[in-house]
Amino acid sequence: MLLSIVVPTYNEAPNIAELVRRVTAVVDGRMGAPRETEIIFVDDSTDDTPDVIREVAASASLPVRLIHRDRPVGGLGGAVMAGIAAAESDACLVMDGDLQHPPEEIAQLWRRFSRGDVDLVIASRYAGGGTSTGLADRTRVMVSKASTAVTRAMFPIRLKDVSDPMTGFFLIDRRTIDAAQLRPRGFKILLEILARRPMRVAEVPFDFADRHAGQSKASVRQGVHFLTQLTALRFGKMSLFAIIGGLGAVANVAIVWALTHIGVDYIVAAIIAAEATIIGNFLLQERFVFQDMRESASGVWQRFAKSFAFNNAEALIRIPIVAVMVSTGHISAVLATAITLIVAFFVRFMFHSLVVYAPRKPGAAPSRARRFVEELDAQASAPGEL
Ligand code: GDD
Ligand code: MN
Repeated sequence: MLLSIVVPTYNEAPNIAELVRRVTAVVDGRMGAPRETEIIFVDDSTDDTPDVIREVAASASLPVRLIHRDRPVGGLGGAVMAGIAAAESDACLVMDGDLQHPPEEIAQLWRRFSRGDVDLVIASRYAGGGTSTGLADRTRVMVSKASTAVTRAMFPIRLKDVSDPMTGFFLIDRRTIDAAQLRPRGFKILLEILARRPMRVAEVPFDFADRHAGQSKASVRQGVHFLTQLTALRFGKMSLFAIIGGLGAVANVAIVWALTHIGVDYIVAAIIAAEATIIGNFLLQERFVFQDMRESASGVWQRFAKSFAFNNAEALIRIPIVAVMVSTGHISAVLATAITLIVAFFVRFMFHSLVVYAPRKPGAAPSRARRFVEELDAQASAPGEL
């Protein structure tokens, strides 16, 4: 096998036959793409797409494989990585299943890749000659252009030669991907690959076509996903953690203001505000900062208990420390508060990444208390002597 074509699909039944037909036409050797080509559909569909794929595969003249995932881990990005891992060939071409990526371009990508001087060839909507007419409407064109510009500004070195880091149409030598480093989530798998390590990249322009059939799965949710991915890629988890902490601080002040405004006692208002933001921050961190560590960590209630205990202890300890600093150190209360908040931020981040979301120890010996309870239980339910 010279080339493996990976196609992620989510409810694309009406597009499968046409895609396979057009890919087959390109890889018959006349247009320059190799005959030794396979297609791997990585499918997370909830409709009859897998049946259609099996049916088309049976009569196809090139190998058509289906990986149907029962758990769509990592969404589109996870599907792409699963396809690349399963490929017969190291040369892996990734394209959408809705024919917005014209299969005829495969020949061009392959010819450029075959020169052997690059690890990755990107089909770009924004390189000279490329177009993005297939984007649904003016809003999506603007969102796409703006997010591309922001992304390129954030990674000026890694994306120096890349005009379209969000395309889903590319040909890559999979040996140059460090799969262990990747955190595939959502739509922008190419950006994830490009941002993690330097690559030799070439681009070829292409026309992003209209969808053949069916509907786009892009959504506002994917957009939010993309923004958190971008922040995490650029600044690491700590920046997301800081943003959430900052939002929490603002919310805290707002709650105190609102409650005292309606006549609640200041101390009561401060306590309610503190506890509310501790809980709110926990939920946001679960969702946006440590989402990839949740699965291997202890259960959610245990994580909550640790986080909640830590934040309350921190608040209780920090206030007397501020008092001591102010009374002995000749510094103002504001400065003392600021210093302790900054120190607390780093300690809190470390505590959460190292303790709250620490991986469960596989097969760790049960604690003594646990063994005692188990022993008691065993004794209590053992058959009696009488
Ligand atoms: N397996 C799997 N799992 N496939 C998915 C999933 C998923 O959760 N979500 C979407 N897909 C598949 C779709 O079935 C389609 O084949 C492809 O991924 C792209 O999804 P579309 O719904 O067509 O998205 P789009 O047209 O808005 O996005 C295109 O443009 C983006 C840049 O603007 C794609 O080319 C993206 O890859 C690209 O990032
Ligand atoms: Mn599409």
